Parts: sequence; structure tokens; C-alpha cells
Amino acid sequence: MLEASPSEPDETIVPKQEWLLTPGPLTTARTVRESMLKDWGSWDTEFRQLTADIRQQVLDIAVNDHSIREEYDCVPLQGSGTFVVEAMLGTLLPKQSKTLVLINGAYGKRIATTLSYLGRQYVTLDKGDFLPPLPHEVEAMLDADPDITHLVIVHCETSSGIANPLKELAALARKRNLGLLVDSMSAFGAMPADAGELGYDALVSSANKCIEGAPGFGFVIARKKLLEASRGNSHSISLDVFEQWDNMNRTGQWRFTPPTHVVAAFAEGLRLHREEGGAEARLKRYVDNRDTLVDGMRERGFETLLSERWLSPIIVTFFNPAHSNFDFAAFYDGLKSRGFVIYPGKLTEVDSFRVGCIGRIDTQVMQQLLRAVDETLNELSVDDASPGADALSQRNLLDEYLEAS
Ligand SMILES: Cc1ncc(COP(=O)(O)O)c(C=O)c1O
Repeated sequence: MLEASPSEPDETIVPKQEWLLTPGPLTTARTVRESMLKDWGSWDTEFRQLTADIRQQVLDIAVNDHSIREEYDCVPLQGSGTFVVEAMLGTLLPKQSKTLVLINGAYGKRIATTLSYLGRQYVTLDKGDFLPPLPHEVEAMLDADPDITHLVIVHCETSSGIANPLKELAALARKRNLGLLVDSMSAFGAMPADAGELGYDALVSSANKCIEGAPGFGFVIARKKLLEASRGNSHSISLDVFEQWDNMNRTGQWRFTPPTHVVAAFAEGLRLHREEGGAEARLKRYVDNRDTLVDGMRERGFETLLSERWLSPIIVTFFNPAHSNFDFAAFYDGLKSRGFVIYPGKLTEVDSFRVGCIGRIDTQVMQQLLRAVDETLNELSVDDASPGADALSQRNLLDEYLEAS
């Protein structure tokens, strides 16, 4: 067990709190929450040092090979994940670029929408709710359209929980000499995404995902050469990554009011990340969480949208049971009253829900959740949690698609 349940002691800080089995904001360690009790002067040397430290520590996670660490820098930016994705795209995609956006869910779609707002040229490979974009399909699109200069990929598409084939797609981007931008919002800090191995131009994530901090800012990890070349490219004053980078390097300060408390919480999140054993150890804990969850749910008749190969250790989509007494809102409330907050599904074809495996949780929490699931199903008089034929046909789509590829 990592620490006492957040619904247990220290009523002075958190009177009552559920376990958040969500893709973030998520359950944080008590020390992360406590680190927000201090007020910081944003101009003060101590806060500037804190900013410099978190930038360096994020780079330590992002780039394994010390000899190339100097090629990249980390630029934190105020706002939620979407702000930082928009900032990366608006700053680092040249005005004349043409981008191929790989879509298999809500976050890929949002990237395409962002490019429309930005007035950048783009094409999409849209695989619907969850089918993975495969390298040979991407290659065919590149062959057909030699004007494509950049590829944008979502690492873990959090809307279904699929782990996209980032390594293979990054190899393709390198082979075809394309710029590669990665939305690794929900995966960075746990799932492998080494800059040296992938050779990306830039990658984004945020404070409240696998580093287990509080929400309030995100960060872009980008090649310094591209940052240098991006002066004046951004459409926006507040989302200009170049200006933020340049200003931070010159003054140690954020442009505009920084989320001071959240930065302090993130620093504590990074300390705990190191203490646990870095990204590898964090990945192992999340994989254990997922396996305990998926095995337990399957024992109860639930089924996952995705087969093993594609299940990320970040979040898992389960089909709603076909049983006529099952009602998601009642299921949600039943779990919440027992101390667990889950997440609705995002599939357009069939009803589903999601359970997150990230945050300050371990397999004991997952076991407790499974007991809460039993009690809730009992309460709802649902004696069979298996999904209907429509759901299973969605699941078979993936296998059929992979066989045909
Ligand atoms: C892959 C991915 N991209 C982008 C976002 C958007 O982040 P936010 O909701 O913080 O704006 C999320 C949020 O979970 C995400 O998982």
C-alpha cells in the first residue's frame, strides 16, 4: 500500500476524498497536496530555482542518453493539456507545413480541429473510435502526398485507452524525414517515449498525469534547434512556446503569472517519481494496476474493448453490461458512495465506461474497487456483467482489421 487511503486521516487537509480512477486530475500523494500549502513569490529566487529544477528533471526523464540531452529543452506553460498541444502546434509547425494527423479518438480529432483554428494545412488518417493507425497505411498516404512535412501522433489515445504504435510510427517519420510531434499527455513518465530512440521534434504532457501532480500547467519537450527557428511563428502571445522558452532562459521566470502552487506540487511529484525508480517502476505499478483490474473485471463477466496487445496501462475501456438492470449513472453513484470515482466512456457506437490505472494507487486499491463493483452490481440486481453482441462485434473489428492488414 502506498499510503493511507485519502479518505482516512488528516481531515484538516482533505476532509473526505475518493480514489480517482480517472485519466487526470488523479489521486495524488498527500505530500504532493501538502506541498501546495506554501505561498510563493513568482519573482523570488527560490521559485525561479524550482522552475529550473523541474525543467531539468523532466528532461532527465525524457532523454535517456546524456550525450543528446543538450539537444532538447523543456518549456513549461500555463494551462491544461489542450493549451500546451495548441502551443506546440502553433509554435513549431511552420506556416507552410502540411501535417498528417493520425486520429483514433477524441484527442487526435482535437489536434485536427486545432490545426483548422490555426489555419495550418493538414490531412488526416481517421480510424474512428479506436482502431490503431498502422505504419503501412501511413506510408501509403505519404506516397500519395509528397507535400506532407509533419506527422502528429497521440501516444496513448486516452479516449479508448489504446497504446498507439508510437515506436514504429516514429521510425517511419525518421525514414521519411518528417517532423514528428507527439501528444503524450497521458503516457509521459510511464510509457516508454525516449527522445533519443524516437527522435521526435517535440512532445507534450501535463502536470496531472503520470508524474502525479496537480492540474494547472503542461510542458513541451522540444529540439532546441526548432525552438530557435520558431521565433515569430506563433499565432498567440500566451501560447508562444518560443517566447516562453526564451524568457525563461534569460530571466528564470515564466511570462505571466505562474501556477506557483502547482509547480511546487509537480516538483514533489517528480521527487516521488525518482524515489519510486523512475518511469520504469511507474510503468510496472500501472501495469500491475491494470492487470489486477482487467483480470478481476473479466472474472465478473465484464469485457474490455481492446485485446491485450493494445491495452495501455493508463486507462481501460469496458463495455457496459447488457443486463437490463444495468444503468451507468447508478453504477457510478454506487462506486462513488464506496469511495471510487470512475469515468464515462467515449465510444460513439456502443455504451462503455473507463477506469484509470494511473495516480497514487496500487493493486490493493484495485482489489478494493473490485469488491465495490460486486456490492454495486448486487445493489442493482445485475447478476451478469457480460456485454451484448453489438459490443463484442466492436471488439472483433480490431482483430478482423489486424488480420486483414
Ligand atoms: C492524449 C490527451 N491529449 C490531450 C488531452 C487534453 O488535456 P486537457 O483535458 O488537460 O486539456 C488529454 C486529456 O486527458 C489527453 O489524454
